[in-house]
Parts: sequence; structure tokens; C-alpha cells
Amino acid sequence: MNPIEALDRIKQLSAELEEHNYKYYVLASPSISDYDFDMKLKELSDLENAYPEYAFDDSPTKRVGGDITKEFINRKHNYPMLSLSNTYNKGEIISFHQRVLKGLENTVPEYVCELKYDGVAISLVYEHGKLKHAVTRGDGEKGDDVTNNVKTIRSVPLNLKGNFPDFFEIRGEIFMPHKAFNDLNQERLERGDAAFANPRNAAAGSLKMQDSKEVAKRKLDCYLYYVIGDQLPFSTHFESLNEAQKWGFKTSSFMARCKNTDEIDEFIQLWDKERKKLAFDIDGVVIKVNSYAQQQELGFTAKSPRWAIAYKFKAEQACTPLLSVSYQVGRTGAITPVANLEAVFLAGTTVKRASLHNEDIIKKLDIHENDWLYVEKGGEIIPKIVGVDLEKREKNAKPIAFLSQCPECGTELKRSEGEAAWYCPNEFECPPQIKGRIEHFISRKAMNIDSLGEGKLEILYDKGLVKNIDDLYVLKYKDLIGLEKSFESEGDQKNRIIRFREKTVENILKALEASKEVPFERVLFALGIRHVGETVAKTLAAYFKDLHHLMEANAEELINIPEIGPRIAESLVSYFSSKKNRAIIQALEAYGLQTTFVDNRPEGQNKAFEGLKVVVSGVFTNYKRDEIKSLIENAGGKNVSSISAQTDLLVAGENMGPAKKEKAVKLGIKIIDEDEFERLLNTSAE
Ligand code: IVH
Repeated sequence: MNPIEALDRIKQLSAELEEHNYKYYVLASPSISDYDFDMKLKELSDLENAYPEYAFDDSPTKRVGGDITKEFINRKHNYPMLSLSNTYNKGEIISFHQRVLKGLENTVPEYVCELKYDGVAISLVYEHGKLKHAVTRGDGEKGDDVTNNVKTIRSVPLNLKGNFPDFFEIRGEIFMPHKAFNDLNQERLERGDAAFANPRNAAAGSLKMQDSKEVAKRKLDCYLYYVIGDQLPFSTHFESLNEAQKWGFKTSSFMARCKNTDEIDEFIQLWDKERKKLAFDIDGVVIKVNSYAQQQELGFTAKSPRWAIAYKFKAEQACTPLLSVSYQVGRTGAITPVANLEAVFLAGTTVKRASLHNEDIIKKLDIHENDWLYVEKGGEIIPKIVGVDLEKREKNAKPIAFLSQCPECGTELKRSEGEAAWYCPNEFECPPQIKGRIEHFISRKAMNIDSLGEGKLEILYDKGLVKNIDDLYVLKYKDLIGLEKSFESEGDQKNRIIRFREKTVENILKALEASKEVPFERVLFALGIRHVGETVAKTLAAYFKDLHHLMEANAEELINIPEIGPRIAESLVSYFSSKKNRAIIQALEAYGLQTTFVDNRPEGQNKAFEGLKVVVSGVFTNYKRDEIKSLIENAGGKNVSSISAQTDLLVAGENMGPAKKEKAVKLGIKIIDEDEFERLLNTSAE
């Protein structure tokens, strides 16, 4: 065979094999035997080995994997990957329908109901009919590029057929069918590996493996449910999915067009029953407005489209006896009751514990000793106690009485009016509070002394080296080097030994030194004052400019600051009235921590947006939305989330909801695009 003949044969075999893949994995109606398929694949693979220059990236041989991804690169989505708001009953579906009706000027909607696949969201980018990138949702703006791994999923076409647009994206859900999941777990257990808790975790874990050969073995599958592009050749969502199937994508045939909420409800009821027969997990139904024109009219909120909604099936429930209630003490002294349960298997995981949150919840559920409790998995991950089986209650069982003394230090607990939690007031002596406070202080978003994490702090506390945050700054090399502790692990895993080696100690001392440059607002947040989160700390720092001004402020003055309410004011006053806290602050100041606000706007900074309330919406070419927002803030503007009569300016990117734009026009608000935004910023800078 000469090279030209080889290339011809390679092309022919590739096309044939992809068509067989399509028939088998997308249409579920194979037309050749597995054996014949394998023979063709082998022939192709041999030819590619003989002529490596013709081993193309999109060859069906790539389905078995081989490419290794050391680190997944972060890729920006061309269109943000939004989520859907959830509904749980018919009433909420009716409200959705009413909102849609209200949002549409003169037309009535038709809906498409689909299954809500329970897997991992993926965005596939196709250019000129070839799969270019496959990107996970990530934070919605950027996700991980998992293209090599996705190429191993047989139902994802590498090359499209028919009449497809040159550029478009298609989104869907990657999932692991039940059979693949059960086989995988059995294999893992036999090998002594931990089993995956549920198919969703297994799919997510598989997608992030470095070796695509291993991914190929995981038998993942993918349903596609949303085509996006600038000029799509259809006018309805329903049509888009039918067309997408002709291009080679796996779309579900379990879709229905519905005219009203009764028809939607019928679809929901049907699938709530039928879902148990499916070969994969679904966790609800998605309802979408069918017409693109209507979708555009309805637009998007910051988080989700106004033209679609999810209906979540009621979570799976189990009933199990309560063994005891234990109490955890948080860093602010808040006491959280936890129900210890007889182990029960629920929606893929074994549940032994569930938070009871606070005393009111225990009272509301009216939990008694040894009660049988109904447990549900909210969001499928965190177990939640939702009720009591009264028939199983023992005679003379006593109601659970909330603890009156701190389980850690024995101090009488307190509960302030209007607060749900009981607190241990012994903030300076109660161990979990002290440790929790220091942990918070060193955390990434606070002073960022990462190198002290993972058990090292506990060692310092146990040895009596650090009893408070200011003690950190007197630590010396000789205090730390050589310290170690063995931590017991759960189950039969080996104990973990943590040791302060030379490098560790150097890193800790370096991080402590570097933390002296951490800006005031973060130092304020790091103090761990109750109710003072990152945003509140920022507001206070910018307002008072100096920690001492804040320390002297009274409640009245504090409440007058926008965004500071009485709860925060009271907590601040109480914190700064403590002699001990004042002493800690004095010490921190002496060690050189920042206690004055530095306006990070450079000198002579442009005031392009000084005093303006600005809404930023849509997608931009040169900036991320958050970047635009911080540029506005740096130039004196204030970002607001929704358009109102008070808004001064709208920076409109692409893909912004038409309803929002219309509202801005109606209110006579100035609208600028990305170019104009840049011009404005640059001219004032000069
Ligand atoms: S449409 C802008 N359709 O559920 C609308 N999503 O909670 C994009 N999901 O992010 C989503 N099945 O990961 C859509 N038939 C379906 C779906 C579906 C599952 C997932 C998807 C989405 C999440 C929303």
C-alpha cells in the first residue's frame, strides 16, 4: 500500500467507525457486531502506526485515550455557563409561568420539558465541524479544559455531519450510567480502593483524571441539551436539539412540548415514577421556553435564564434511630447540635451524622430521645433531618434538652435575643474557640499564612506556644524546628505524622513576615469579630481609615454607615470594649501589622466614574465582568446589581438580557459598550 492509498483507507475507516459509534452510542441501534467493529479499529490503528503522519487528532483510535493532561488549563467560556433556579412544587411552576407571561409582551409561550441529568456540566466548542474544546463549568466564567478526556466519550462526536454552523457551542451533562458505576465500584473494592459515593462523583472524578486511557475505561456518556451560537439556523430550542442529533450529538428523545402548567406537571409526574427505570440518574426536570425570540425577550438574571427553570424531584428519604446528640463549638463560640444516627444508606452514601443547626430546629422537629428520624439529602450531598416517625417513639421518651454548659470548657451557655445560636461566652479560655480564631486568622482570605495549616497549628497550641493570634509573631526558628505529632486517621489508614522540617519552618516565618503587608481591611476581617465578614470589613476600613477610629466608634455612629446594621454594630462595640482584645490589637500593631486604610487607587487616579451608580451586564471581549467592576470601583464608581431610577450608567456587554436593556432605555439611563467604557476610563486617566 502506498501512502496515498493508506491515507484513503484511513479516511474511509475513520468515517465508517465514527458512523458506527454514532449508531451504537447515540442512536442505540448498532448495525455491525462488536467483533467487526474491533477488527476495523485494529486495521485503522495499524495503519496509523505505519503512517504516523496520518494519525489525526480526531481519529476514532483516539477514543481509547493516550493523551496525558498534567494540569488542566483554565479556559474562559465564550458565553458564561449559568445555572437554573430550582422549584420543588407545582405552585412554583405556576409562578414561573406567570413570570414568563408577564415578561412576554404579546405572545404566549410553548415550553419544552426535558430530563435533568445528574452529572457534570460540560461545554463543547465546535469549529468547522470539529470538536475544539471541552470545558467544565468551573466558576461559570472559566472552567477546566478537559478536551483530551472528553474525546474518549464515544457519544461525543469528534467530527460533525450534515449542515452545521461553522462556530457554535453545545452544552450538556457528562454522566456515568448505573452499570458502568456498579462495575467500577466493584473493581475498586476488589483492588482495595474506596468506592465512589454516587455516579455523579464518579463522573466528576473520571473527568479530572490525568491519563485519558483511564478515562476511556470509565464508560462515561453525555447528553446534550443546549445549543448556543451567534447565528443559529433555527428559531426554537426543540428544533435545535433535533438538528443537533442529526449532526451527531446524543440528545434525549424524552422531551415534550407543553402548552400549560398542567401538561408540565404531567411530564414531571411521569418522570418522577419512570426515572427509577432509567439506566442513569436524573434529579429533576428542566422546563424551557421553546421560542428563541421569546427567550431573548425574557433574558437572563445574573445567575440564570428567565426562560428556563428546574424542577427538582423530592430528595430520597430514609428513617433511622437517633443514637445521641453531640455539640460542636465553633470559633465564635456558637454551639451546633449534631444528631448521631444509626448508619443508614441514602442516595449513594452512608449517613451517620446530620446537623441539627440550633435549639429552635430541635424544638420545631420536636425530637425526643431514641426517636426514629427521617433523613433527606438536600442537594444530594448534605443530609438533613426533616421529621420524626411518631409511631416509633418510645413511651415516656424525653424531649431532647439543649445543653446548658459548654461541652468543651463547662462554662454556662448564653443566648442573646434575636439570635438562634447558644454561645459559650468563655472566648479566651475555651480551646475550640481559641484554635478556631487562630485558624481563621491564618486562612487564605485573611492573613494567608497557609504554611501553618493542616494540623501544624494544633501542634503549636498543644505545646502552649500559641494561645492567641498575637503569639504567632513571636515564634522563632528554634521554637519550631523539630516539633512533630502523629495524628490518628479514621478507619484502618495509617496515622499521619506532621513534622516541622527546616523548609516548613522557613516558609512559616516567611509567611508571617509577609502578612505584615496584608492590607488593613483583611487584618480587620482576620480578627474574626462576629458578623464581620470580608465585605463588612472592607466597608469599615474604607469608612474609618484607621483602626483606632473604628475602635472608638459607638453603636449609633456605626449604624449610620450604609450596610452596617445593629447586629454588626453591637458585635463591634462588644469586641472593642474587651480589654483583652484591645491588648491583642496593641500587640499586633507593635509587630507591624497594617491598621490604616491605604486607598489602592494610584495618585491622581482618574475619577471617570466618581459618584456614579453603575450596572455592568453581559459578556465582554477584553475583560472579565469582575475586572470591569473593579475598574469602576477604582475610578470612584459604585457597582449596583439591578437597574433602577437611581442607576446612572449601564455598561452593556454582549448577550445581556434585552429586558434589562429595555428598562434602562425606558428610565433614560446612559448605556455604553465596552469600547466606550475603555475610552472613558482612558481619557480621564490622562
Ligand atoms: S439547561 C442556561 N437542561 O442542571 C441553561 N441543564 O441546575 C443551561 N442540567 O447547569 C442549563 N439537565 O448542569 C439544562 N436538560 C437540561 C439539564 C441541565 C441537567 C444541569 C446543568 C445545569 C444545571 C442547572
